[in-house]
Amino acid sequence: MMKSVAVIGCTGSIGSQTIDVISRHKDIFDLQLITCNKNLAKAKEMASQLDHVQIGTHDNSQTSLFSQDLLIGDQAIIDWIISKKIRIVVVASSSIGTISLVLSILPYVERLALSSKEVIILAGSLQLIHPEWKEKIVPVDSEHVAIHQLLQYTNQEHIYRVILTASGGPFYSQTPVPDLTNMTPAAALKHPTWQMGKKVTIDSATLANKGIELLEAHYLFGFSPEKLNVVIHPQSMIHAMIQLKNGSVISQMAYPDMRLPIAYALFYPELPSLSYIKPIEMNAFPDCSFIQTQATDIPIISLALECLQGSTLKPLFYMIADELAVEAFLNHKIRFTEVAGFLRFCVIELAKIFSIQNFQVHPAGVPNFISDVMQNTQRMLIQFKKQVE
Ligand SMILES: NC(=O)c1ccc[n+]([C@@H]2O[C@H](COP(=O)([O-])OP(=O)(O)OC[C@H]3O[C@@H](n4cnc5c(N)ncnc54)[C@H](OP(=O)(O)O)[C@@H]3O)[C@@H](O)[C@H]2O)c1
Repeated sequence: MMKSVAVIGCTGSIGSQTIDVISRHKDIFDLQLITCNKNLAKAKEMASQLDHVQIGTHDNSQTSLFSQDLLIGDQAIIDWIISKKIRIVVVASSSIGTISLVLSILPYVERLALSSKEVIILAGSLQLIHPEWKEKIVPVDSEHVAIHQLLQYTNQEHIYRVILTASGGPFYSQTPVPDLTNMTPAAALKHPTWQMGKKVTIDSATLANKGIELLEAHYLFGFSPEKLNVVIHPQSMIHAMIQLKNGSVISQMAYPDMRLPIAYALFYPELPSLSYIKPIEMNAFPDCSFIQTQATDIPIISLALECLQGSTLKPLFYMIADELAVEAFLNHKIRFTEVAGFLRFCVIELAKIFSIQNFQVHPAGVPNFISDVMQNTQRMLIQFKKQVE
């Protein structure tokens, strides 16, 4: 029986690659819904290449542009997914606001293929996902898919540590690391191995992406911060490693191509052959290198691990502050080298205002809470700049 699929955030980098993967398996997946936020023209163009797909927009203000066939707003999209009994939903949205949709549809779907880091960290730090539904979530990210896959071959009690690889982006893959003081957005947007959206590309350059992935690994798999490590691996061939207590290391390798983790999440637990994924050539191995980092060497990474100490909202503050930091860096309001300091400043200051103890964990209160945190974070950019200038 065909598996019905919906793709939330079809116009982005992960969304469009998901459609590419699905279109190669038309005998298995039946793509029924694609959604975007603002970019309806692109979504419509994508739909014109597909068979009878429903289009949705999460942006309520886009009413007049298209016909009555369009689903407008989160609620219309949620209702449609539930009423059509969609089996797999791929969440490729970059918006933290997608949490409401995720929580609403999770009880009804069979699989949630989740690439949205924002949603994973928000749901994890506020403990929003009912343990019963956790099994339905399969991550869509090369490192977390690697860990998910490696965990099929071992169990938690044998694990000594988990090592996520970081490409190092355009700067940390170089030895020595160049002077980053006057690094421009244009230089930071040139990623050597991955083609991604702007936000995640800047995060790769600052290494905040790896900090965020450590937080995700904690929430997705329950690893304590002491077990989590990062190594810089410029070729992006090995995506994660698990070092066992017996001294051996198991790893997952593949050329950098997001279609592999996307296909993994769509097909799990099957591992079908994927003709469009280039198999690793063994003569590529001499080129593989690693730059061992201590967490303390890279402040933006050590801060992420510090945020995981104790049960606090600090991981959420880290992520929200980073969102603002990337925007500020792209708009030349903050220097590349100030990003880590800004994140630390926000984590400390936000923890003085908001605590998990006084937060009522009810999904309906989440949007207001997030907008409150974001408003406070905006103010902190001005305070931080005063402090460093
Ligand atoms: N790119 C990668 O290789 C990669 C790898 C691992 C993880 N991720 C994670 O995957 C997520 C998506 O990344 P991306 O690079 O694909 O981002 P992207 O290219 O910026 O695309 C973002 C998508 O989210 C949609 N969107 C924006 N606001 C939305 C809302 N309120 N509700 C629903 N959809 C909304 C956008 O629609 P419009 O175009 O209409 O605005 C677009 O389709 C992020 O969390 C990212 O960190 C990405």
